[in-house]
Amino acid sequence: MCGIVGYIGSQEASPFLISGLERLEYRGYDSAGIATLKQSDAIRITKVAGRVAQLNSAVEAANPDGKTGIGHTRWATHGAATQVNAHPHIGGSGNISLVHNGVIENFETLKTGLEAKGYRFESQTDSEVVAHLVADSLASAAADRAGETTVEDCIDAVRSTVAQLRGTYGIVVMFRDHPDLLVAARCGSPLVVGVGKGEQFVASDTSPLVGFTERIIYLADHQIAVIRPNNIQVLHRDHGRVRPDIQPLSNQSQDVNLEGYPHYMLKEIFEQPQSIRNALRGRLDKDNATAKFGGLNLTTQQLRGIERIILTGCGTSWHSALVGEYLVEELARIPVEVEYASELRYRNPPVGSDTIVFGITQSGETADTLAALREMKRKGHHTMAICNVIGSSIAQEADGGIYLHAGPEIGVASTKAFTSQLTVLSMLALYFGRLRHLSFEAGQRIIAQLERLPDVVEKTLECHAQVKEIAARYADANNFLYLGRKFNFPTALEGALKLKEISYIHAEGYPAAEMKHGPIALVDEHTPSVFIVPQGTVYDKVISNLQEVKARGGPVLAIVDHEDPHVNKLADDVVQIPEIEDFLQPIVASIPLQLLSYEIALLRGCDVDKPRNLAKSVTVE
Ligand code: F6R
Repeated sequence: MCGIVGYIGSQEASPFLISGLERLEYRGYDSAGIATLKQSDAIRITKVAGRVAQLNSAVEAANPDGKTGIGHTRWATHGAATQVNAHPHIGGSGNISLVHNGVIENFETLKTGLEAKGYRFESQTDSEVVAHLVADSLASAAADRAGETTVEDCIDAVRSTVAQLRGTYGIVVMFRDHPDLLVAARCGSPLVVGVGKGEQFVASDTSPLVGFTERIIYLADHQIAVIRPNNIQVLHRDHGRVRPDIQPLSNQSQDVNLEGYPHYMLKEIFEQPQSIRNALRGRLDKDNATAKFGGLNLTTQQLRGIERIILTGCGTSWHSALVGEYLVEELARIPVEVEYASELRYRNPPVGSDTIVFGITQSGETADTLAALREMKRKGHHTMAICNVIGSSIAQEADGGIYLHAGPEIGVASTKAFTSQLTVLSMLALYFGRLRHLSFEAGQRIIAQLERLPDVVEKTLECHAQVKEIAARYADANNFLYLGRKFNFPTALEGALKLKEISYIHAEGYPAAEMKHGPIALVDEHTPSVFIVPQGTVYDKVISNLQEVKARGGPVLAIVDHEDPHVNKLADDVVQIPEIEDFLQPIVASIPLQLLSYEIALLRGCDVDKPRNLAKSVTVE
């Protein structure tokens, strides 16, 4: 949450800062600001209690020049989304400015100490404390040198400041008296330095760097980057200089434009045939009727010895984990437990040494998932990431893993990452199954289904026009139920979450049969129920549940996978998706649900890509 950028070099800083913040806006959009600096001048701050587009207008009006600059787009944690709480913050008497992503847990104590020294706070943020701490350290150095400070003093001021912080931070600091210097530091919040020629960049992730540089350095926790126009040094907070690991910017980062779509969410929904193809590419081993993965970092013998799997994640990724449980138990017969990462990190479940833990995450930055994996790793378990963002914190910290290769997902509501996660989990279940009892023939059958999947998803997208028309009939509802069974129970949860988060309609997902244990009380003529009712072992059971809703006057939208006269008679609206084996149904059935929430949100005038109160990567607890 929160996106930060920095620039130092021979060009004006503000164009890069604004374009970088636009690309990082998915990380938070409560307020935005930049600070710029030119030689022998004061730091100029432009900030707004609004979005980057408003900031852009303010910047155009104020024209803050300077070849050094920092910027921030905020997801509020401490203090409301006001201009005063917007970053950058000023430290001391205006001699430093800082942007911060993260949460400083001991900020109250630090603030009290600073107030006792005479520092006055303008904002309610924890971040301003960090700004004053840097300024305070610098003031001590200046006092020792008759008011002058050196670059070393600036670095030491950041080093001694971060040593006092408890919590998470990615910060970039700018110094009025050293306009050729930016200092960045991280612990728990991501930072990437872009290496240029005569200019350098820094950002929360690689997206702002696309088109500006092709070489990057991922900062690790407790590292500090000393950034000057012609040179970058990386230090460890406690151990001094480290050799920076300069890496190429992955191609995946490049795909950050709307390409004619009105919203990223719609673009990403329509990218799913391709993102699923990318997840499958090179991973189906037809000769052995299994799947193969490059990065698990365990021998076949070690993988064969696994007796239990924990799948953990948050939100949509947790829904993927639920599907993963059904998949792995069904295909590989390995017991699976699904844990909310936010619970797992503080729970202390008994976990045997033959257990492996998978963290499922699009961003690779979700604070709870990262903490849960760290805790499991600390206990000696092998941890794996099923992750989309290359080089993200979780990808780096896990012992092994599988990338989704879905390309950047920018819409806050996860769509293509979800279906790619399910694709990877299906292959994982096949892989574990083939290490155990699953026959060659069964493996071949599963591979054949997986190979069909991208085309099936392509075909499914043809329902868009019909779903759009149906959405108009349901857009005024205040409550929705989503009901499915077996593999499609998690599909129901995911459908409900999609609707809630982008259209602000209350929606509940349930295993269809659970409905009569309580939620059926919600059913009336104003509460639509979305039934996922493809052919399969639970078809008849779901039909009974559907009838129970109809008997109580509830409108029904049914998702079926064949021409179904029975459902046609019962349901008010029916969307037919292509047939596929049940273990892949959640992928296919999710498509009309994603489109439904998208169309309803549009009809309700909601900001589809940037729903209120949310941010794309949740880097706070
Ligand atoms: C919902 C959504 C969130 C994320 C959750 C975990 O559409 O996007 O629920 O799934 O915040 O994020 P990742 O997968 O990045 O760990």
